[in-house]
Amino acid sequence: MLPDLFADERRDATLGPDAGILGGFALDIADALIAEIRRMNADTPFRHMETRGGRRLSVAMFNCGALGWISDQSGYRYTAIDPETDAPWPALPPLFRDLAGRAAAALGFDGFVPDACLVNRYQPGTRLSLHQDMDERDKTAPIVSVSLGLPATFLWGGFQRGDRAARHRLVHGDVTVWGGRSRMIFHGIDALKDGFHPATGALRYNLTFRKAR
Ligand code: SIN
Ligand code: FE2
Repeated sequence: MLPDLFADERRDATLGPDAGILGGFALDIADALIAEIRRMNADTPFRHMETRGGRRLSVAMFNCGALGWISDQSGYRYTAIDPETDAPWPALPPLFRDLAGRAAAALGFDGFVPDACLVNRYQPGTRLSLHQDMDERDKTAPIVSVSLGLPATFLWGGFQRGDRAARHRLVHGDVTVWGGRSRMIFHGIDALKDGFHPATGALRYNLTFRKAR
């Protein structure tokens, strides 16, 4: 099925029930979002976390908001304190919260107030293998995910890891929302291609908003 006849002008696309890509939804505030990432990053470093099995994640991460997602030898969980700085994660910028609420509402999820925002940084070659977001207590809330900088290929699979994944291009300013019937879909990011983006250089940032508890 074709997304729509005007795909060049308006790149909104349906991913599945209760899930879609809002093409360019964050474009008008993208520079301000990147400035906030850099401001927070001055005190809160990007780091490569390890999985329980000791494998280093190729995506570099930090969090903002009341809770932050971490992974280490004890597994995945949310914490209020950054284990790297021993301080609370930086507060969720009002601009971030407002964007997440507006994007969720555009897919029919009214009243979404995230308490966690994972800031992901991808370099060329970085990938995020197929996974489900399953560490959040409240699975009725959607996931809101914002793409900044270099384009990426979003992998949108099924409810089993081995299900065939569709490929969707995500560019600077796109916002992806999934919840409800699609909340537990396996998803990921294919290896980032080399490139240069005027706003981020040779990087892609992603903001993932969640309601963790
Ligand atoms: C994620 O699945 O947590 C991030 C997806 C993305 O980087 O767009
Ligand atoms: Fe995810």
